[in-house]
Amino acid sequence: MGGLSVTALAEGFVLSGWEARESTRLARLVYLFLNLPDPPDLDGSFPEYPRLRDRLATTVDGGATDDVEERFLELYAHLHMNQAAYSDEERGRMDAAGGYWNHAGGLSPILKAEPWIRPDTLSADFGAGNGLQGLLLQVLYPHTKTVQIEISARMAEIGDRLRKWLGVAAERVEWITDDVLNVTAAGYDFIYLYRPVRPEGPGRDFYARFAREVESEVRPPVIFSIADCLRDFLSDRYEVFYGDGQLTCFKPRKTQNP
Ligand SMILES: C[S@@+](CC[C@H](N)C(=O)[O-])C[C@H]1O[C@@H](n2cnc3c(N)ncnc32)[C@H](O)[C@@H]1O
Repeated sequence: MGGLSVTALAEGFVLSGWEARESTRLARLVYLFLNLPDPPDLDGSFPEYPRLRDRLATTVDGGATDDVEERFLELYAHLHMNQAAYSDEERGRMDAAGGYWNHAGGLSPILKAEPWIRPDTLSADFGAGNGLQGLLLQVLYPHTKTVQIEISARMAEIGDRLRKWLGVAAERVEWITDDVLNVTAAGYDFIYLYRPVRPEGPGRDFYARFAREVESEVRPPVIFSIADCLRDFLSDRYEVFYGDGQLTCFKPRKTQNP
């Protein structure tokens, strides 16, 4: 690959509007994916990966940053998989809880999380899909452990192979294959979630309980929420410190920015 260096790529991202530190992290991810072998086959889960990766490589080689972000997002979305695999039983439980299908939360939460994750952080993704978000957090900011809570056993299986492929140690990732309605939000330093359930019926109870549990903590976690449903359930113990319509970030009031 004779094209852009990580630094030049990051500078290009800054010119297209990314914040400087996020640009560097994004450039690191681009190079990570360019340098990895094809992902494990997983029964044809990622059929387009080689083509999309080569297209990204050609764009990086060509030296034009403008298209790199778009090509990289295509590759990321493919890896994320928008078709999760559910058994009939899992599908039934999802429908009962108003579960939300597998859409990708995007790169923004990954790139913005750095100041909030320390080496001793315990993080969680409620409704993790194949766990790509938590895995990328581990790749960029290695920390104690990421707990991936997901109803689809198949996605957890795929996620564990992605973990190995990305070189994340087994002890840094734990899977809870269960309904989020059954899983406590207590005990974490950083929680990420993308609307695993709709805030109606049992889903409403989930967000109410989730808010109660995080607010009862001595050190409540920082929460990154995509398509947020939590705000109405949190008290003024929490404040929003970032919001762009897609991602809402909460921290306990009086927590200093790192
Ligand atoms: C919108 S996707 C988010 C995926 C990933 N966290 C991200 O941000 O890219 C929601 C995920 O929640 C899972 N899900 C839906 N209902 C659930 C439930 N009741 N319990 C656990 N997971 C659930 C879906 O299978 C899906 O993977």
